This record gives sequence, C-alpha cells and structure tokens, in this order.
Amino acid sequence: NNVIVLAGGLSHERDVSLRSGRRVAQALRDSGHNVIEADVNATLLETLASVEDPVVFPVLHGGAGEDGALREVLDLLGVPYVGSNGPASRVAFDKAVSTPIVTYAGIATPAQSALPHGMFRELGAANLVDALAAKIGFPMMVKPARSGSALGSAKVEDAAGLPSAVVGAFSYGDIAIVAEFIEGTEVAVSVIDTGDGPQALPAVEIRPSSGVYDYTARYTAGATRFLSPAPMDADVAAACAEMALTAHRVLGLRDLSRTDMIVRDGVPYFLEVNVAPGMTETSLLPLAIEASSATFSEVCARLVEAART
Ligand code: DAL
Ligand code: MG
Repeated sequence: NNVIVLAGGLSHERDVSLRSGRRVAQALRDSGHNVIEADVNATLLETLASVEDPVVFPVLHGGAGEDGALREVLDLLGVPYVGSNGPASRVAFDKAVSTPIVTYAGIATPAQSALPHGMFRELGAANLVDALAAKIGFPMMVKPARSGSALGSAKVEDAAGLPSAVVGAFSYGDIAIVAEFIEGTEVAVSVIDTGDGPQALPAVEIRPSSGVYDYTARYTAGATRFLSPAPMDADVAAACAEMALTAHRVLGLRDLSRTDMIVRDGVPYFLEVNVAPGMTETSLLPLAIEASSATFSEVCARLVEAART
C-alpha cells in the first residue's frame, strides 16, 4: 500500500497543488497507507523506481500535471495512478477542445470562440473587438484555454475592456476563450468512480463574498461561502448531476472529475471540467464528499485501491 502523492510542479497553480497534495497525503496516511510525497523534478523517475509497487496519486494542477503530459509518462511506464489517462486529460484540460465535444454531446454551453494569439495579431484589437462584440456580445468572460483557478480570467463589460483582458489571458497560453457571460448561480458537481461506475456527488453552490470567484476567493479561508449540498429543486440537481456525468463519460475520464457550471433559471450551463480538481481546505470536491455519506479519507483510499486493481 505504497502511494506516491505527486504535488507541486511548475505551473502557476504550484502553491495550490502543494496544499492539495498535503491534504491528500494526510487523508491516505489516516487510512493506513505508506505515503511518499514527491514533486515533479529530475528525481521523479528514481522515486518511482525506488518504491515497491507504487500507485501514484497525481495532485498537480495546471500545466504538465493536468494537461496529460505527466500522465502519458506514467502510461508509458505502466505505473498505476489515480485519475484520467494522458490522452483524455489532454482533451479535457483544453477548453478549446473539450467545450465543443460536450456541446456535441448535448450539453448547454455559453456561446464562445477560441482566439489564438496569431489571430489576435492578424486582425488587430479594433477588428477583433467588433467581431467578438457581434458574435458573443457583452458582458463576456475571457480566459486562457489551458489554465485553472481563474488565473487570467476576466469579465469584460464593454469593448474598451476587451483588448487588455485578451492580453491577460494570453499571458497564460497562446489560446484565449471568449465566452458569453451567463448571470446565474455558480455550482460544481464532482464525479467519483471507485469501480462501480461514475457517481455524481451532491452539487456545491459557490457564493464568493466579493461576488467574483477569483483566485483569492478560491483559496482564502472564509472568502467564499459554500452551500453543500446546494439548495436547489430536485429536478435542477438531477440536471446538474447529469451534466457532470455526461461530461465525465464523453470525455473518457476516469476515477474523478469536477464539472463547474452556472445555473440560470433552473438550467445548468457548462463552464469547464477539471481532471485534477482542487483538494485544498477550501476546495469543492472534498466539500462535496463531506456532504455525502463517506469521508475524504475513505474516498482517497478507495480511489487508490481501484487504481491498483
Ligand atoms: N484548478 C483548480 C485546482 C480547481 O479546479 O480546483
Ligand atoms: Mg478549473
């Protein structure tokens, strides 16, 4: 029962990952596992080789830890690990790729365009503003296609705010997503599969006191109120659960995921799916587990056992 908890990494979400990693490591120790905590660096292969029959629990957010690159290495080495495989993670992590797929599967998504940096240069800011204003309208959300924790995301109220928001998103990668802003209630549904098929956990409603669920609201204790389970009608809760399960299935995800959505007038709209959901003290998946009949420690242990078999 050796488990290597991988946390840290070099993405902008390194600090978040270290916090998630500590919590997962503690949860697995509480359930009797021998836990080795490791970062992603040049000694990773030595660590993998030095541990007998390890299961890896990757708790890496953003960058190579979530975009499939690290998981493809584990796939190649034949090391069992918790979570979605490399190719599925690649697809899910990239909003420019995953959103059209879930839309095709019948999931409601805000209208959006993927904007490559090269197109921004080619069109120029003024033409771009006109084109996006016509296609998406204001207000809009601008975010990097491949990032997390709301880094590089901004709500844009009018044409004047668009160029700087787009440039901000490009600082996290060369494709930006420009999406319709949907006013509603932000909700997250986590999915866990420990061998009996994917199960949706209770939806968690997110109420940031600042009104915006940004990086500070995500990781500062007390900055956001979470309602877990989310107070919603049974049919709306069922629609949210169905969306998270459909996204998990059609993207070919494994073991765990979390789908973030906005509910407007009882209808959920897909925002994104996470293959490496946050596991910090203020993160949504652990909150959802606490609202269910299991403990975080039990679920982590079951995920590890399922990965081993
Ligand atoms: N990207 C952060 C860790 C999350 O989605 O929870
Ligand atoms: Mg995310």
